[in-house]
Amino acid sequence: MPTKLSKAETVENRKPDLPSGRAAPPAKGEAMALDLAALDQARNNIEQGAVTASISPWSAQIVDLLNGALATELICVLRYKRHHFTARGLASPAIAAEFMVHANEEAAHGDLLAERIVQLGGEPDFSPTGLLERSHADYDASADLRAMVRANLVAERVAIEAYRQMIHLIGDKDPTTRRMLEHILSQEEEHADELSDLLEA
Ligand SMILES: [Fe+2]
Ligand SMILES: [Fe+2]
Repeated sequence: MPTKLSKAETVENRKPDLPSGRAAPPAKGEAMALDLAALDQARNNIEQGAVTASISPWSAQIVDLLNGALATELICVLRYKRHHFTARGLASPAIAAEFMVHANEEAAHGDLLAERIVQLGGEPDFSPTGLLERSHADYDASADLRAMVRANLVAERVAIEAYRQMIHLIGDKDPTTRRMLEHILSQEEEHADELSDLLEA
């Protein structure tokens, strides 16, 4: 025999369930509290500049990743400029102009990376010695317009994969760097899209 519900427990009077997807309420004793010791360290260690206690165990490794990206951007600037000035053929003026736009955007990416490296207490590596070895993408001196577009698309795809991996590795360790890398990644994806359209044209 079914248990009889009291008036307060009838379906009509029950509180509606939370719509699915809403966060569960805090468990007993669970609180959203800031780490006050970390705030104290931030207050005291001013010689570290932008590096706070939460980033500092990772800052050297993040700087290494960013220096790899910086070398890649510098090689991309050189490759796009070489292609801009040597592009020949009927379709070349528009494509050469596009190469220069990309070159300037890669240079701006390099500047963002160098600035963040300094904020993290590191040194941006602009040395030409070993630049190609530090870069993830290759230089290219193709003479043919189609080969240029292809080489740039390959380099953009390598850069996209490298930025994706960096974003994944950095995760929540340094949200500012991650957001910067996400911004750069979205521009690399636009570059790759444009090059891929040119190849199909
Ligand atoms: Fe770039
Ligand atoms: Fe790019």
